[in-house]
Amino acid sequence: QGPATVTPTGAPTGAPPEAMAQQGEYLTTAQGARLRTTDHALKAGRRGPVLLQDHHLREKITHFDHERIPERVVHARGTGAHGVFVANGRAAKICRAAFLKKGVETPTFVRFSTVQGFRGSSDTVRDTRGFATKFYTSEGNYDLVGNNIPVFFIQEGIKFPDIVHAVKPEPDREIPQAQSAHDTFWDFVSLHTEAQAHVAWSMSDRAVPLSYRMMEGFGVHTFRLINDAGETSLVKFHWEPRQGVHSQVWEETQLTAGNDPDFHRRDLYDAIDAGAYPVWDLGVQVMPDTEDETFEGIDLLDPTKFVPEELCPVEIIGTMTLNRRPINFFAEVEQVMFNPGNLVPGIDVTNDPLLQVRLFSYIDTQITRLGGPNFNQLPINRAHCPVNDMFRDGFHQHAVHGGVTPYRPNSLDGGNPAEASEDSGAFIDVPQPVASGAKVRELSASFDDHFSQATLFVRSLSEVEREHLTRAYTFELGKCYEEAIRLRQLQCLANIDADLCAEVARGLGLPAPEPTVPPADVEPSPALSQVGGTWPV
Ligand code: HEM
Repeated sequence: QGPATVTPTGAPTGAPPEAMAQQGEYLTTAQGARLRTTDHALKAGRRGPVLLQDHHLREKITHFDHERIPERVVHARGTGAHGVFVANGRAAKICRAAFLKKGVETPTFVRFSTVQGFRGSSDTVRDTRGFATKFYTSEGNYDLVGNNIPVFFIQEGIKFPDIVHAVKPEPDREIPQAQSAHDTFWDFVSLHTEAQAHVAWSMSDRAVPLSYRMMEGFGVHTFRLINDAGETSLVKFHWEPRQGVHSQVWEETQLTAGNDPDFHRRDLYDAIDAGAYPVWDLGVQVMPDTEDETFEGIDLLDPTKFVPEELCPVEIIGTMTLNRRPINFFAEVEQVMFNPGNLVPGIDVTNDPLLQVRLFSYIDTQITRLGGPNFNQLPINRAHCPVNDMFRDGFHQHAVHGGVTPYRPNSLDGGNPAEASEDSGAFIDVPQPVASGAKVRELSASFDDHFSQATLFVRSLSEVEREHLTRAYTFELGKCYEEAIRLRQLQCLANIDADLCAEVARGLGLPAPEPTVPPADVEPSPALSQVGGTWPV
């Protein structure tokens, strides 16, 4: 199919009438006065200066002067598409969310992104990819704001500004553009060794996907689900692409980034235009909600840890098809606002110390990015169910709210909204006990293992993937000027895998250090290999 159907007013089919920004037969000012021309300013004579009284000129130029909004502080470079999610009903036994009931179809909007680069940067750089999905469910919007790598760099959200400062270009020269070709990147990840598992994924082929259509997505954190009977379970979300998981080799990324910096964006939109709609299965790893919130020795609150599929298989609960590209990139892809706190009844957060901080960060940044608190009224962000939030006013308020000032209870205005019960679909804050004890700034000891999952990942790769990994570490670390930092990262590699360390050290012309922690005794996870795994090709 070609571009999505458009109404005569320019609004996408099915879009609310408010989306019809420009309509009518004649060119007008923003106030609706018809214009004779928009090509010539009002001047004092044919060869005279431009007059300040030219209202249309000033209105046009002033609007243009303010066309740009701040790009996202991270994930600035992205691409989005509309789709539909159809549940197969298998989640109903663990989750009461309406959109997971068998056969329910839910509209979605997905934004794929890189993390580090600016809005105009190249698509095919070595980086983590964002995979953020908004489900417009009958019970409100649910956002699954994930990445294509199942582990994160840091365990605590309070470090997020620090890791982002370390991966972004240096403040004085604003180079380099590539996150891992960086003294500050390697300095951070070798000092905050919890980052080492994510770094291993970043140096692997996973960080150079062939196409957005061929990436997995992961919710990363553990979430708590609750079913109709009030029973809870702990889950990790997975998106599995029916197109298989495929990557570019490094040389290809250099060609595609140079020849076509929009490579991934073009690929996604060309596929949709050709009717080759990309499809992902949504799956969950379901784990018992135990008091210690661990599974097979893995602390489920630690976002630097994933659960191998061999220990807990992924159960498919529905399928998403992306079948419509945006009509207006700014209105949809730039103005979409995701938030891990946008949840629906049946899905709740856990005490993962990274997730807890994310719950604060997204609204806060979006108030700056969209210039006020009313971004939920934008067509792309609006819920597809009744909204009665009692909010009023604020920058860019679009609604004309009637009635008495909203508060509850309100004896003056019969129209004030009713409170829902759980039976009438109220959101469920799962009454999870909160740990008692003193306030602390520490984590439990189970967060101390920083290397075993990097080892597990490295040992699970096929020979060719392993070779790519070694070359990537050697190449990227070779860009690091400070020898002390290179040596410190080699020490981390020694703790992950002695052979990998020796090969990278040889490539760098440096000595390979001895491990400082005993090597992890881990079984490889074949599902982690794109070549040797279970993925269709
Ligand atoms: C975007 C903060 C961790 C995935 C963002 C944005 C901020 C942010 C400020 C920009 C949002 C906007 O302007 O609309 C944080 C903080 C984190 C954190 C403080 C840790 C405490 C994570 C993790 C993931 C993730 C662990 C993956 C599981 C994303 C994605 C986007 C994003 C996919 C782009 C959303 C879009 O396409 O609009 N994050 N983030 N972030 N973050 Fe995070």
